[in-house]
Amino acid sequence: MPSLLITGANRGIGLEFTRQYLSDGWRIYACCRAPEKADTLKKLAEGFSDQLSIFRMDVRNGDEVSAVAEALNGIPIDMLINNAGIVDSYGRGVFEGKDDPDLKNYDLDLWLEIFNTNVVSQGRITGEFADNVAASERKMVVMISSGLASINNTWQAGRYAYRTSKAALNMLTRGVGAWLEPRGVTVVTIAPGWTRTELGGPNAHYSVEESISGMRKVLDGLTIKDTGSYWNFNGEQLPW
Ligand SMILES: NC(=O)c1ccc[n+]([C@@H]2O[C@H](COP(=O)([O-])OP(=O)(O)OC[C@H]3O[C@@H](n4cnc5c(N)ncnc54)[C@H](OP(=O)(O)O)[C@@H]3O)[C@@H](O)[C@H]2O)c1
Repeated sequence: MPSLLITGANRGIGLEFTRQYLSDGWRIYACCRAPEKADTLKKLAEGFSDQLSIFRMDVRNGDEVSAVAEALNGIPIDMLINNAGIVDSYGRGVFEGKDDPDLKNYDLDLWLEIFNTNVVSQGRITGEFADNVAASERKMVVMISSGLASINNTWQAGRYAYRTSKAALNMLTRGVGAWLEPRGVTVVTIAPGWTRTELGGPNAHYSVEESISGMRKVLDGLTIKDTGSYWNFNGEQLPW
């Protein structure tokens, strides 16, 4: 039975990955920052008690990440999905073409918070679980990026923090890919498409089912030859 460790598993994209891989028989280590409030995840665990374990992990909290790594010490993990992430929102200095692009008005504390959550934590978590992944059969690390990470794309240009954090996450993918390639670990970055979650909002183009089915199909087809590559959920490769 293949295994998955995923962050931000309590809702949105993380929850749907958990659901779909559970249905396919995978063993899931589902991490979320407040298990006591993760009602949907706990309900899933009732039906899949031998396949699903829930762990407390705020991705910014090194002690919590280390505690999960300790609990899973020596256990192979076929796929690590670094999914948890946050976005900057309008009203905190963000513009979209016509609004206020002035960096003086941008919320710099939020920028740091987003970088910590969307990049630094992915580095920490990948480091903590690299041995588990390298010991598995599938050997894959997945960074959940965004189309907004693409430097070619200027849509929603004023999401400075989110866009720079996801572009940095893509760069992290390249670096970690080179680091882990000798151990046979494939490291990729993938955009889910604009998806209807709390983060994506109700007007987004895709359901979580469509987004996750698409991403899983892409991931299924990747091998070590693809390490360090940047994908869209529909199977296209995205320009950096
Ligand atoms: N939806 C889209 O259109 C879209 C497009 C491109 C990329 N993405 C990316 O997809 C990923 C998942 O987003 P989503 O759409 O599913 O958003 P979501 O519904 O807002 O879910 C975000 C998840 O991340 C978790 N999270 C946030 N900060 C965390 C922290 N410090 N520690 C642990 N967990 C934390 C949240 O946990 P809590 O419930 O505890 O807050 C939640 O589980 C993100 O990386 C996002 O950037 C989404």
